[in-house]
Amino acid sequence: MLEASRRWRSAGRSIGLVPTMGALHAGHLSLVDAARRENEIVVVSIFVNPIQFGPNEDFERYPRDPERDAVLLGEAGVDAIYEPPIAAMYPPGASTRVRVGGVAEPLEGKARPGHFEGVATVVTKLFAAVQPDRAYFGQKDAQQVAVVKRLVRDLDLGVGVRVGETVREPDGVALSSRNVYLDPAERRAAAGISAGLLQAASAYAAGERRLDVLRELIRARLAAEPLVQLEYAELVDPDTFSAPGTLAVIAARVGKTRLIDNLDLSKPAPG
Ligand code: PAF
Repeated sequence: MLEASRRWRSAGRSIGLVPTMGALHAGHLSLVDAARRENEIVVVSIFVNPIQFGPNEDFERYPRDPERDAVLLGEAGVDAIYEPPIAAMYPPGASTRVRVGGVAEPLEGKARPGHFEGVATVVTKLFAAVQPDRAYFGQKDAQQVAVVKRLVRDLDLGVGVRVGETVREPDGVALSSRNVYLDPAERRAAAGISAGLLQAASAYAAGERRLDVLRELIRARLAAEPLVQLEYAELVDPDTFSAPGTLAVIAARVGKTRLIDNLDLSKPAPG
């Protein structure tokens, strides 16, 4: 990968990277489109990164479909798929980890200890191998976006971080590779998550600015879904994730599946 990237760069060609864990959906493909528009070369990495999963999380059963992914990426016209084996990413004795701190600590950082350290480490390694000018991440993982931006700034990585809007199903459910875990009843209940966010956005648009009231609206909407167990619903600043702000973030379990979603209430609601 590094040899190819060096060749492209020495020929003056710009490189866009879309880092993924595979099991691609329309959200990933919209990032590929954005990368295509802004770069001469588009690389998509597919790597289910073991070190960003906790011991009781779904690393083993995380959906994998490399053949289908390759067909989709071929149709999308990407220049390279970077699919390193685990042993190449983490050879025996690999002990270096990248810890971002600050923005990586609350919410997802607290719920999933070690998760953002795993993400920051693998993103640093992917950047080292692909040498991108720009890298593309989905807004659905809003805290990951904030962590990667901080990582790039603090380590002077010189990569432009681009953020693609969350792509949603017609009923509002955010696309996620993990949605395949949901049974039909859970899938219907999952729509309560985005419905809660939209309710808060409508209240905000109508002038409601009390964060506790907006948060309660979300919680009340989710309380109406017996299959949804809310983990947190908070209104945070999108850069720090600790100070209060207008980014509404949710983590909830629907059956055994943990889903996250978010919406910036100060921006016009989607759809
Ligand atoms: O968002 C993801 O799919 C992953 O966290 C990423 C950025 C590819 C790192 O493994």
